[in-house]
Amino acid sequence: MIIDTHAHYDDEAFDEDRDALLLSLREAGVGIAVNIGASLESSRRTAALAAKYSFLYGAVGVHPDSAAELDEAGMRELSCLSDGEKIVAVGEIGLDYYWDTAPREVQKYWFERQLALALEKDLPVVIHSREAVQDTLEIMRRTYQVSEGKLRGVIHCFSGSAETAKEYTGMGFYIGVGGVVTFKNGKKLKEVVETIPLDKLVIETDCPYLAPVPYRGKRNDSTYLPFVIAEIARLRGISEEETERITEQNARALYGF
Ligand code: NI
Repeated sequence: MIIDTHAHYDDEAFDEDRDALLLSLREAGVGIAVNIGASLESSRRTAALAAKYSFLYGAVGVHPDSAAELDEAGMRELSCLSDGEKIVAVGEIGLDYYWDTAPREVQKYWFERQLALALEKDLPVVIHSREAVQDTLEIMRRTYQVSEGKLRGVIHCFSGSAETAKEYTGMGFYIGVGGVVTFKNGKKLKEVVETIPLDKLVIETDCPYLAPVPYRGKRNDSTYLPFVIAEIARLRGISEEETERITEQNARALYGF
C-alpha cells in the first residue's frame, strides 16, 4: 500500500474535483493520505476532510508563513482540534527564512509553542524548514533533549544536506521525500536518499505542489507517488515493491496507524 504522508487536499487547487480525486486514490494503490494543516483555517478544513473520508487522516498546525496569525485563542483551538480521533500529528510547523512572511522571532516563538503542544498531546510533529537549516536543527535538538527524547516526527520535503539528515535520523526523526527526488537538479536530495537509514524514509507529495517528473510543474496528487517510489528504488538498488513496503511500514510507525 502507498501512504502519502503529506498532502494538502483542502487547497483550492482541488475545488473542482476533490471528491472524485480522493475516491480514485485507492484504485491507484494509495491506501492512506495525511492532510496537513498550514493555518488555522486549513487545520479546520483538514479536520473536516478527515472526518469525511475513512482513508484520510490529518495534522493540525500553523506554518511559519502564517505564524503572525497565532495567538492564545488560536493555540487553544489547535489544542482542541488535535484531540480529534483522526488527527495524527501537529504540523506543519517550523521556520521559513525564504519567504520571511513573519518576523523570525515570531516564527521561532510559535514554532516552539507548537512543539510543546505536540509533546503535551503525545503526537509526532511535521516540520517545515526552508533556508533555516541551522535554527531549525538547533530548536529541534534542544526540544528533543529537554523532552528526554520524546519529541518525534518527520522533516517534511527535506532540503538539507546528507549530514543534516544524519543528525535528524540519529534522533529518530523521519525524512520526507517527494517529487524533488525525480528532478534533474535534485542531486542533494538523491544523495540524502542514498545515505539515510531506509527505516527512516517516508514518501509524500506536498500536493498540489512539487509534482514529480514527468509531471513537473503540473498539479500534483498522490497517484503520482509511483514515480517517487521508482526513483528511490533506483537510488537504493532495491525493487519498487520493496520500497513501497518499507515506506508504508515507516509511515505507519511515524503516525501510529
Ligand atoms: Ni506542505
